[in-house]
Amino acid sequence: MEHESNAIDPMGDFERSHSCDAISANLIDHEVVLAGWVQRRRDHGGVIFVDLRDRTGVIQVVFRPDASSKAHARAGALRSEFVLAVRGVIKHRSEETINLDIPNGDIEVVAADLALLNTASPPPFAIEDDPGVDESVRLQHRIHDLRRGPLQKNLSLRHRLTKAIRDTLCENEFTEIETPILTKSTPEGARDFLVPARQQPGEFYALPQSPQLMKQLLMIAGFERYFQIARCFRDEDQRADRQLEFTQVDLEMSFVKVENILKLLEEITWKGCLEAKGVELQRPFPRISYQDSMDRFGNDRPDTRIQLELTDLTEVFSKSDFRAFRGAVEAGGIVKCLPIHNADEISRGEIDRLEGFVKKELNARGLGWIRVAADGSWQSPIVKFLSENDKENISRITSASPGSLLIFQADTNARVNSILSRLRVDLGRRLRRVEPRDWDPLFVLDFPLFEEDEDQKLTYMHMPFVAPVEEDISLLETDPKAVRATHYDVVLNGYELGSGSLRNHRGDLQRKILGLLGYETEEMEQKFGFFLRSLETGAPPHGGFAFGLDRFAMVLAGTDNLRDVIAFPKTQRGQDLLLEAPSEIPFTLLDDLAIRVAKRKRN
Ligand code: AMO
Repeated sequence: MEHESNAIDPMGDFERSHSCDAISANLIDHEVVLAGWVQRRRDHGGVIFVDLRDRTGVIQVVFRPDASSKAHARAGALRSEFVLAVRGVIKHRSEETINLDIPNGDIEVVAADLALLNTASPPPFAIEDDPGVDESVRLQHRIHDLRRGPLQKNLSLRHRLTKAIRDTLCENEFTEIETPILTKSTPEGARDFLVPARQQPGEFYALPQSPQLMKQLLMIAGFERYFQIARCFRDEDQRADRQLEFTQVDLEMSFVKVENILKLLEEITWKGCLEAKGVELQRPFPRISYQDSMDRFGNDRPDTRIQLELTDLTEVFSKSDFRAFRGAVEAGGIVKCLPIHNADEISRGEIDRLEGFVKKELNARGLGWIRVAADGSWQSPIVKFLSENDKENISRITSASPGSLLIFQADTNARVNSILSRLRVDLGRRLRRVEPRDWDPLFVLDFPLFEEDEDQKLTYMHMPFVAPVEEDISLLETDPKAVRATHYDVVLNGYELGSGSLRNHRGDLQRKILGLLGYETEEMEQKFGFFLRSLETGAPPHGGFAFGLDRFAMVLAGTDNLRDVIAFPKTQRGQDLLLEAPSEIPFTLLDDLAIRVAKRKRN
């Protein structure tokens, strides 16, 4: 089919008058001009029906030879995804074609004229809410994928969220300032992406893992309230809620207390949910301490709607004769239990499957369990190792009763909590032990400043610039592990939306903390010299926060996959299947960068 237009621009004399969602039965007998894509075309013996789709929705256009023989003749050539503009009149549908299950299913546009704006290759899958293909196919054909309603909706939700946050920050007198992408490494715990510097052979820029140091420099430079919708880059293992490249709403304020920041964060979260999703969160947000959260839920981002809670049995098993569990405690680990009461619906077979799952997927050594039968007897592969005293203690602490299923883990602190917190969520959802609330926002507070790594070396819990709680500063000398941080997280529905803290604004304190983290003077100077000297130019007390914007949009969109709220995301293996990135670079270009590749991936 030819493109027939002599006009200067391809739309010719078709000036779009309405979007699909602006059409309604109120416009009966009005002439409209619509533009969009062919979602579907059906030829019903002389009458052609086209579902025309634009960014707002779909409307049925009917081409009848008696209404316009020219338009009807042209419509014969239309195929899926062809691009068109149509002039026509809004009419009621005939009785037998009314479809009340879809918006505007009772009306249609009777075409008087049609302009074909472009043809299209056949789409790889139907542009429907559920196209029934693997995600990798969708990512490879992301253009078609993005035309689907759910992704159009998600990206528009993300836009409204971004706008609500930006507006709130502007109302609070924040200045939006951009910081460099080609920068120097900031430790956020992940691996850096590096960019070779052609003019300094052998030297590299790092892409920012976050604008952390830059925003602190802006505070020192006197801006007092900064924000940025900032792209961040972290070369870390991908999970459904992590991408190599993601976006933060990054903010920082001077001369503030933790409470001032929390108030702002609550306002931003509340406004974001309202404007993007029409959801009014209850305020004030509940608060929970890090320790309480770890004890009861096994992680620091609990979904408190799930009504199952963990119990700690370390003390009981430290004195027990059950060697497997006592051994874990003696090795410095813990024993915890996830009690599920009235759990008859979990069959023996399911317990075995659960054991297989935790071993394979969660790296567990095994799964200890006890089922309390209707007559009160204990059925369990481990019961023969337990003394009467052990049983009494377990019963008391877990409140076991007939019908209870007790699930145990004895291992390192990290492993026990990570396995049981995952089971808590999975089983809680499956058994519908969930409070009927759609939204669960909360603040997590009172984190420790440091933790120990696998080699029992002191390491930072979040990053090295977090300020300790003022009254704990003296403990830095004597008991650093007991020092509390000024850190706080915002959690929504079991996802960490963001985190922040007050920062060390005094150079001497920052040096001390870097020293405790094992930095020798020379390395400290080389990595952070510019920053430490900046702190000594008159740094105001300051603190801030960063929301993961993708995460926030993901939770509001009701998906558990970040890729559903990012236009051009990367796969689990860090690839962009549409652009086919990353890709090999010709040797000549590498020569310019003074880079030699030691190993190339073999295809
Ligand atoms: P943090 O490292 O906790 O803090 O990051 C803040 C928030 O960013 C989001 N996020 C991610 N989202 C997607 N993919 C990732 N790989 C990823 N990594 C982090 C999360 C997280 O809560 N500079 C500090 C903030 C501060 O203290 O001001 C920082 O970056 O939602």
